[in-house]
Amino acid sequence: MDKLQTTIRNDVLIMEISNPPVNALSQAVRAALLAAVQRLTAEPQLRGGIILGAGNTFVAGADIKEFGQPPTPPLLPEVLGAIEACPKPIVAALHGAALGGGLELALACDARIALASTVVGLPEVTLGIIPGAGGTQRLPRLTGISTAIKLICSGERLQADAALKLGILDEIVADDMQGAAISWLHSTASCKRPVSVLRVPQETTEDIAKAEQAALKAGKSRPAVIAAIAAVKEAASIPFAEALAHERAVFETLRASPEAAALRHMFFAEREATRLPAGLPQTPRPIQTVAVIGAGTMGGGIARTALEAGYTVILFDQNKDLLSQAGENLRTKLPQAQLTVAESWADIAQADLVIEAVFEDLAVKQDVFRKLDAHAKPGAVLATNTSYIDIDTVAAATKRPEDVLGLHFFSPAHVMKLLEVVRGTHSAPDLAATGMAFGKRLKKIPVLCGNAFGFIGNRIYNAYRTQCEFMLEDGAWPEDVDTALEAFGFAMGPFSVADLSGLDIAWRMRKANATTRNPRSRYVPVLDELCERGRFGRKTNAGYYNYADGKRSSGSDETVRAIIAEASTKRGITRHELTPEAIQRRALIAMVNEAAQLLAEGVAQRASDIDVVLVHGYGFPRWIGGPAHWAQGQERETLERDLDIIAAATGFGFVRGDLDILLNKTKGDNAS
Ligand code: 3HC
Repeated sequence: MDKLQTTIRNDVLIMEISNPPVNALSQAVRAALLAAVQRLTAEPQLRGGIILGAGNTFVAGADIKEFGQPPTPPLLPEVLGAIEACPKPIVAALHGAALGGGLELALACDARIALASTVVGLPEVTLGIIPGAGGTQRLPRLTGISTAIKLICSGERLQADAALKLGILDEIVADDMQGAAISWLHSTASCKRPVSVLRVPQETTEDIAKAEQAALKAGKSRPAVIAAIAAVKEAASIPFAEALAHERAVFETLRASPEAAALRHMFFAEREATRLPAGLPQTPRPIQTVAVIGAGTMGGGIARTALEAGYTVILFDQNKDLLSQAGENLRTKLPQAQLTVAESWADIAQADLVIEAVFEDLAVKQDVFRKLDAHAKPGAVLATNTSYIDIDTVAAATKRPEDVLGLHFFSPAHVMKLLEVVRGTHSAPDLAATGMAFGKRLKKIPVLCGNAFGFIGNRIYNAYRTQCEFMLEDGAWPEDVDTALEAFGFAMGPFSVADLSGLDIAWRMRKANATTRNPRSRYVPVLDELCERGRFGRKTNAGYYNYADGKRSSGSDETVRAIIAEASTKRGITRHELTPEAIQRRALIAMVNEAAQLLAEGVAQRASDIDVVLVHGYGFPRWIGGPAHWAQGQERETLERDLDIIAAATGFGFVRGDLDILLNKTKGDNAS
């Protein structure tokens, strides 16, 4: 099929890009566009041109799938140069999304009109690159340097009205963009107006420095952010053509970097994760009304995200005070939303989906499910929001285990993107599609998991944290471990995370599991000792660290060090220094080992799903692409050596995962 349809209307050449699903600027599109612009230049009867996109969108940018291969001509800057150089005016008519190269294409045109629902942006930095076709040079000529820095470094997507205010768009039209563009091309206003000849608006150096600092902070000073700032600033300091060549060279260098490959991997992995495996029914059960049981932080957050997605929500809690408070909160935040605060269990009978979000305790959850069994209508999906509890045991409390599913939300539930959709042994096959469709409508990234302890995320995090505890006994202090892992890129080190979420939760679980724990397994008693002294983390102003003045102390105190040193002595360990690299590798290989087991057991469908879970739920650095992608970039021998190290550190009961299964590239990794 032709990637570009051309027609002539009122002496205007209409160039419609047709490259489903998102009209990405693949080589075929670029070649066809260039040929069309040459035709526009050559044919004297044509007075101007219009570029638009077929289907739902204008152009979502360069074809990201091409980024892993050498670039093939014509390159986008060449096509855009031809558009600017064409003696006849060309209008970009935008709808849907004009992102990345798509917006750069529009910026090379002489005017930009758009439907009100259009979004525009330059999200290249989120892919580890900078705009590579003039975005860093043309945008600041319209918006000024500081706004361009802000937009490009954040990758923010602007609604059409905001883009109009900033001068990125010239006009918003209600409908008939073609008609509006043709009228403009026939009006006296019609002329060549290349953005490249505009002067960059004057700004103070302080304003620019402020934008720069804010962008560096928000973008964690990643290489693409630093490069984007430098490129945008060149718009005001060197000639356009020279700056354009610099921009392209930087774009090419970054495109080939491991960081950009990891970010592309994440882009495709996030989309792949939402796909159901073949063989499962793809049609979800219809859901309109959602009942949420439990009005605490989690239940309130789940109710909020469901209301925001347009569901009718029934909220219930046996604690009437908590319930009315949560109901009031939600009504204040979302006054238009369809919320009912239930009076009794009987009120949940309307719900197509019931999500239990009560206390994380099996007996409490089973009790709730017995009530759900009695009150929910036949065919309603009964979901448990749990992070560890066995779905089958919860389902066993009902007479309809086939309707029971796990939906593991992350806190705060209305913010966090990740949703683990957990199939129990008896879950009906269509529950997978139902849970995944529900997650997508919530604008989350749903990942399908099997029912195993901790599902995907907590199972891996558990292995990682346990390895970090071993490192305490072996010779590191909590701050050594946290600093090393934060330097690797984790949002927070494991002991800071533990202090933040409260050590008592883990303590309670450890006590519950004490009788079943094999006494030969290595067990680090530090957390229990801390809890026995009332050090539950931030909420008691002391845990692994102190929080006396509201801020985390830089290191652990004498009490904590004494507890750790005593644990080492009891285990007969002579404490020795662990380098940051050794800490990082041990922590990572623990994740990788568990990931390999999860894949072998079928708990995770794809290696790339594991990456999505760790990046979106556990602060794993997105620019490294998750533990599986990280492992795929390591030498096999080194990984095996790392496994030997944690095998020796763990001792009895260590299970060595089969790296083959993890290192075989999966579909989600196709673009790296
Ligand atoms: N290249 C290749 N494939 C792309 C793509 C792109 N730029 N953008 C989207 N796709 C693919 C997706 O992988 C997906 O494929 P699949 O169906 O096989 O999974 C399909 O298009 C639909 O995408 P979404 O599932 O994301 O659909 P939505 O409707 O939810 O969102 C969108 C549409 C808002 C356009 C979203 O896809 C998006 O944000 N795309 C990326 C935009 C982007 O980052 N552009 C910059 C590219 S870099 C660049 O342009 C460099 C330049 O400066 C030279």
